[in-house]
Amino acid sequence: MAATTVRFCLALLILVASMASMAAWKMPSAVAGRRRSPKYADALRKCLLFYEGQRSGRLPSTQRLTWRKDSGLKDGQDAGVDLVGGYYDAGDNVKFGFPLAFTGTVLAWSIVEFSADMGPELPHAHEALRWVTDYLLKATDQPNRVFVQSGDPYSDHSCWQRPEDMDTPRSSFQVNDTHPGSEVAGETAAALAAASIAFRSSDPAYADTLLSRAKTVYDFANKYQGSYAVSIGQWVCPFYCDYGGYEDELVWGAAWLDRAANSSNYTKHISHGMQQIRRQKKLRVNGYDWQFSWENKDAGNYILLLLMQKTDDDYSTYAQNFACSLLPQSPTRNTEYTPGGLMYKAPAANMQAVTALSFLLLVYGRHLNNVNGSVTCGDSKFPPSALIDLARSQVDYILGHNPLRMSYMVGYGKKFPQRIHHRAASVPSVDQHPQHLWCKDGTPYYVTDAPNPNVLVGAIVGGPNDRSDNFLDSRPWSNQSEPCTYINAPFVGLSAYFSKHG
Ligand SMILES: *[C@@H]1O[C@H](CO)[C@@H](O)[C@H](O)[C@H]1NC(C)=O
Ligand SMILES: *[C@@H]1O[C@H](CO)[C@@H](O)[C@H](O)[C@H]1NC(C)=O
Ligand SMILES: *[C@@H]1O[C@H](CO)[C@@H](O)[C@H](O)[C@H]1NC(C)=O
Ligand SMILES: *[C@@H]1O[C@H](CO)[C@@H](O)[C@H](O)[C@H]1NC(C)=O
Ligand SMILES: *[C@@H]1O[C@H](CO)[C@@H](O)[C@H](O)[C@H]1NC(C)=O
Repeated sequence: MAATTVRFCLALLILVASMASMAAWKMPSAVAGRRRSPKYADALRKCLLFYEGQRSGRLPSTQRLTWRKDSGLKDGQDAGVDLVGGYYDAGDNVKFGFPLAFTGTVLAWSIVEFSADMGPELPHAHEALRWVTDYLLKATDQPNRVFVQSGDPYSDHSCWQRPEDMDTPRSSFQVNDTHPGSEVAGETAAALAAASIAFRSSDPAYADTLLSRAKTVYDFANKYQGSYAVSIGQWVCPFYCDYGGYEDELVWGAAWLDRAANSSNYTKHISHGMQQIRRQKKLRVNGYDWQFSWENKDAGNYILLLLMQKTDDDYSTYAQNFACSLLPQSPTRNTEYTPGGLMYKAPAANMQAVTALSFLLLVYGRHLNNVNGSVTCGDSKFPPSALIDLARSQVDYILGHNPLRMSYMVGYGKKFPQRIHHRAASVPSVDQHPQHLWCKDGTPYYVTDAPNPNVLVGAIVGGPNDRSDNFLDSRPWSNQSEPCTYINAPFVGLSAYFSKHG
């Protein structure tokens, strides 16, 4: 059945990109070219608009993507709780809590670092984040319990159906003291804590609520240690399974709590967790495949700790190692680039790695600028601008500076993906087609070559995934054509920065 698709946003980042053909790499023209700069402010506006298209729950009167309507209004009822709200993670209609929380953390981080560059988009950025945190507050309302998912993924994925019509089971899944989930609870604590910083000046009461909830959720994650893959099993795996262990999320949550509370209360958790991670993963070895994703916080942890000037360990060595693994001219680079200059990290949803790693490069580069630092890789030294320029080259590639002259953000530029793997965008809207469409009624809209009837403005898709800048613009190729909330989240910060410093 064509509509039974494996969802590739939950990317197999675990597959390490091959290290072939790296010696011959040179700065591609898409990176070095002197074409006109993209319109970063326009990209930022659209990047945030995308989140309105992913909304679940009751839509407000301010909704700008008006082809989307209320949906999921009974979520939580099976468990006697209110889980209305939140985002659908990608092109389906399940609310997966783990990537949702990561999306929240990174949206918050984008605001924390770059709010000054956001201009009139700052209120929209706050709105996009609040749609996550309002939901997370509902999901963490009871002590020692976190609701981590709404929707049965198997029946959802076997239908090609608008969220407004969903009639598949909206089962609620939870972790608790007998069935823990430290990765998802740790990430949820991180999101709440990071968001408390993002809202600190505009809404201090809300920030206080978020921070105190972050503490109770973190204490639950830490006291009852275990993986939700074990506690919930097939309902979360293989969809958003945390293969690399939950220690990184426990460090991540602790770091965001200390940053949000201006405290050192969690420093011991951080250094203990980092020691364990280093032992298990051998991070210092050249060739370590640094990642930053819903699944893996390693690189994010080091950059965050460096910003916080935690001095009880030499975090800067690891941060440099991370940058050296990416910088095209670094002697210890272990990242492949396509001929057009795009980072190649994964054969599916590659863009999630591109935006997340570029975000870290930008944040790190900016920090190095502030402290007059540089990065040393073997016998080569790189100024902060090398990191920031690399991040910019990836943003520019996404916005059309690439061999296909194609923007990978829907609705941006002249040429962009028309057939994204997205149920709501590909089936006629309720306005166009008011009659209910049942589970399989959407299949003709899935298999057709016609463009999607609804433009999900701002959605960044998985993009080229074959090392050679090719893109088919094909709905069934979800490994290229599916958008995800966590591809866009780092791009909020990236596009904000370059809109001011482009
Ligand atoms: C705890 O979580 C498990 C796994 O989600 C669930 O089966 C169980 O019913 C929950 N326990 C309680 C008391 O709700
Ligand atoms: C943390 O410090 C910052 C900067 O001094 C301040 O603005 C903020 O209110 C503090 N946060 C808390 C929770 O005390
Ligand atoms: C830090 O821990 C102490 C002792 O448990 C507690 O009194 C204090 O409120 C905590 N501070 C923060 C900011 O969490
Ligand atoms: C920055 O560092 C360089 C050497 O690394 C030094 O020559 C220069 O004086 C420093 N500038 C400032 C403003 O600290
Ligand atoms: C991407 O998906 C298409 C369609 O399912 C498949 O034919 C192709 O092999 C996939 N590509 C990769 C790199 O996995």
